[in-house]
Amino acid sequence: MKTLILAAGAGTRMHSQLPKVLHQIAGRSLLKHVYDTSCQLIDNDIFVIIGHGAEQVKQQCAELTVTWIEQSQQLGTGHAVQQAQTYLNDNEVILILYGDVPLLQIETLNQLLTEVRHNSMALLTVILEDPTGYGRIVRDSERKVIKIVEQKDATVVEARITEVNTGILAVYACHLTKWLAQLQNQNAQGEYYLTDIIEMAVNDEIEIHTLQPKNNHEVLGVNTRKQLADLERIYQLSQAQKLMETGGVSLADPNRIDIRGELIVEGQDIEIDVNVIFLGQNKLGHHIKIGANCIIKDSMIEDGVEILPNSIIENAKIGQECRIGPFARIRPETELAHQVHIGNFVEIKKSNIAAFTKINHLSYIGDSIIGQQVNIGAGTITCNYDGINKFQTIIEDGAFIGSDSQLIAPVIIGKNATIGAGSTISQNAPAEQLTLARSKQTSIGNWQRPIKKNN
Ligand code: UD1
Ligand code: CA
Repeated sequence: MKTLILAAGAGTRMHSQLPKVLHQIAGRSLLKHVYDTSCQLIDNDIFVIIGHGAEQVKQQCAELTVTWIEQSQQLGTGHAVQQAQTYLNDNEVILILYGDVPLLQIETLNQLLTEVRHNSMALLTVILEDPTGYGRIVRDSERKVIKIVEQKDATVVEARITEVNTGILAVYACHLTKWLAQLQNQNAQGEYYLTDIIEMAVNDEIEIHTLQPKNNHEVLGVNTRKQLADLERIYQLSQAQKLMETGGVSLADPNRIDIRGELIVEGQDIEIDVNVIFLGQNKLGHHIKIGANCIIKDSMIEDGVEILPNSIIENAKIGQECRIGPFARIRPETELAHQVHIGNFVEIKKSNIAAFTKINHLSYIGDSIIGQQVNIGAGTITCNYDGINKFQTIIEDGAFIGSDSQLIAPVIIGKNATIGAGSTISQNAPAEQLTLARSKQTSIGNWQRPIKKNN
C-alpha cells in the first residue's frame, strides 16, 4: 500500500513564516505525528505532497523515510493527489491523509483499510454540531453516500447536513487514477476537488463505506494557533490519562503536565506535582516524587528519588534515593550514584558524584569526579575554565570542603582531606590533612571609626 500525506497548503491563518506542518504538538511537528502513525501500517510506502515552504519542510524532516513530491501551485486537494499519479500501481491501496491532522489513531486507520475492496472504497466521516467550513456528506433515501459537496458549493439544504468529510480516505489505485483524470475545476473555488471522486465512484458502482473515528479530535485539523493549542491540550491530557491508568503515576493535576517526547515509566507509585515538563527521552523507576515546576530532559531517574520544586535536570542519571533541589540545576553528562543530596542553587555540570555525597547550598561543580561521602560546603566553586580550556577537579572519598572555597582546576583533593572555609585552592591538597589558603585574621585594637566633620 501507499500513503499520500497532503501538506502543500499555505496555512495562511497561522500567520507564520514556518510552513504549517512544521508547527509542533508535544515537541513533534504536525507532519511527524502523521508520519509516525502511518509508519505503523504494514507494508506501506509514504509520499508527502509539499508546496509552501517545500525546501524548509524537506530540510527539517530529512530523517523521515518518505518520497517528497512537489506541488508547485496549490490548485486543490485533487490536484495535489494528481502529482503522485506516476508513483501509483493499479493493484495497491492508496490511503490519503492530511499533514495538518495530527491526532489520528492507528486503530482508526486499520479499521478504515479493512473497508477497502476492489468494489468498495472507505471514507472517514464525522458528525459535527457545527459543520461550518467542511465538505458535507450527501446521502440518498437509503442512506447511501452519493457525493460530497463543499461548503461553498452547497445548497441551503445541503449546508444543514452535519455529517462531514474528514478528507481521509482509502481506495484502490486503479480507480483513483481513472477518476483523477476526470477532475474538473468548475466550482465555487476554481479548484480540483479530490472530493469529486465520490460521485465518480458511485457512477462506477463502487460502494462508499463510511467509518467514524472513536474520538472526534482524531480528525481535527490545525488551521489556526488556537486550534494548535487546543490539540496540544487534548494530546497532553490523553498522555496524562495513560500515565495514571497504566503507569502507576499520580498526577496532582492531569491538566498541568507536559510530555514532549517519550516518558518511560518502569516502576510504580510515582507522584508528580503540577507544571512538570518532560522533554526528550526520560525514564522513571519506582517510588519517585517530583515537585512542582520541574523540567526534566533526556534523563534517567532511579528508584526512590525525590526531586523538589523548581529543579532542572538535563541529560543526567540520578541514582537511587537521591534528593535534588529545590532550585537545583543538573546539567548534561552528570551521573549521581545513590543517596546523593543536591540542594538549592547548586549547579552540577559533566560530573560524576559517588554515593552519600552532599552538596547542599549555592555551589558550582563542573568537570569533576567526586568520591563517596564527600561534604561540599555552601558556596563552593570549581574553577574549571581559564577562558580557553576546561580542567578537571577530583575530590576523593570522605573529603570535607569548607564553605566559600574555590578549587582551581586541575586539582586533586585527597581522601578525607579537609579544606578550611574561604580557601582558594590552586595546588593538590593532601589526604587526611587540613589545608587552608586564606589570609590570616587580624584585629586592630585602637582603631576608630571616621566621624562626620561639621563645616
Ligand atoms: C478539505 C475537503 C473537505 C473536508 C476538509 C477537511 C476538498 C475539496 N475538501 O477542505 O471536504 O471537509 O478538507 O478538513 O478536498 N492541500 C494540498 N494542496 C492543495 C490543497 C490542499 O496539499 O492544492 C492540502 C493542505 O495542505 C491540507 C489538505 O490538503 O493539508 C486540505 O486542504 P484544505 O485547503 O485545508 O482543504 P479544505 O478546503 O479545508
Ligand atoms: Ca482545512
